[in-house]
Amino acid sequence: MEHMDLSGKRILLIISGGIAAYKSLDLIRRLRERGASVRPVMTKAAQEFITPLAVGALSASHVYVDLFSREDEQDVGHIRLAREADLVIVAPASADLMAKMAHGMASDLATAVLLATDRPVLIAPAMNPKMWAAPATLRNAQTLRNDGIHVIGPARGEMAESNEAGTGRMAEPLEIVAAAIALLDGGARPLTGKTAIVTSGPTHEPIDPVRYIANRSSGRQGHAIAAALATLGARVTLVSGPVTLPDPAGIETVHVETAQEMLDAVLARLPSDIAVMVAAVADWRVATASGQKIKKQPGEAPAPLQLAENPDILKTVGHHPHRPTLVVGFAAETEHVETNGRAKLERKGADLIVANDVSPETGVMGGSRNQVNIISAGGIDAWPDLSKDEVAERLAALIAERLGG
Ligand code: C5P
Repeated sequence: MEHMDLSGKRILLIISGGIAAYKSLDLIRRLRERGASVRPVMTKAAQEFITPLAVGALSASHVYVDLFSREDEQDVGHIRLAREADLVIVAPASADLMAKMAHGMASDLATAVLLATDRPVLIAPAMNPKMWAAPATLRNAQTLRNDGIHVIGPARGEMAESNEAGTGRMAEPLEIVAAAIALLDGGARPLTGKTAIVTSGPTHEPIDPVRYIANRSSGRQGHAIAAALATLGARVTLVSGPVTLPDPAGIETVHVETAQEMLDAVLARLPSDIAVMVAAVADWRVATASGQKIKKQPGEAPAPLQLAENPDILKTVGHHPHRPTLVVGFAAETEHVETNGRAKLERKGADLIVANDVSPETGVMGGSRNQVNIISAGGIDAWPDLSKDEVAERLAALIAERLGG
């Protein structure tokens, strides 16, 4: 799919030091594939993490590194660098760079450009959670917001360099791109003013305090759809089962474990304009989960598990008095994808069913690609094999189109 929503836009990308700098390489690619030109500036610390060579190759631009380089100053100069951009993005923005920005320092090329620019500035902080939570950093972030600087993230999640989890992870490149588009108003935001509920991930149904029934859903498709709807302007609530993905930036994420909790969380957020039920909800739960760990009894056969049916969240929403205007479900099938998808459309009261083949050989479950068929009252539309992000973008666009019409 062509995404030219940044076509002709000039982005000055400042990369400061931090392990998240490797994600800036992907950010450059994502910005350019949307038609933007990217002029990179790297701090000295950034060059400890990624090389100017890689940044230059990906951006197809000279990489600016030095305030006092005669070559760089003759070529453009920091004042022109600061002005010849439609948007300045700082990603990652280290604690050190934020502190310098907040105090108006101009001791290197990056800080001099930031002080000189009169263009919108978007920063994506990334640092250790303890550094983000430090009073000085929070104070600096607030100062920068007061100065009109746009801040995206950081997100919660695991840190790249340690097993620590907490807030400090840089927003994902696609989220930064979405924020850039919103700032430049280059993209249409057809879902502005609409609300959406998205379910994602598996559910865990307890057997006893230590064991549960689950499935192989990663949550990648659901999370991507939540992010894509937000990019188009919707106010999104993501109701997520247990996943290892970070919460998407700028989206209210509600964490649940069981199907019953997921249903309660979804119903609590009705009415809503849009519902996209992507979660792989467990069909059954253990009828009465044991309050104590079930002990193995020597010489005795294991007690059979008595199962009970879980509530069907999609079906409940599809037939609810506050039914959203557009209800979308998924059909994970391993055979007869089309026939089963059509039947599901009827039974669940959905407007659209996204049917995919999840046979093990497709690698869809837990993988990053997906080939889906869109089933509606009007018929069936087979989409090509796409990344889950692309499926999400297309689906969000289709939802916007259906709501608009
Ligand atoms: O019936 P089946 O599980 O195949 O339907 C899949 C669709 O229904 C998905 O959209 C899924 O999120 C939704 N679903 C649900 N609650 C259930 C079972 C499925 O919302 N208990």
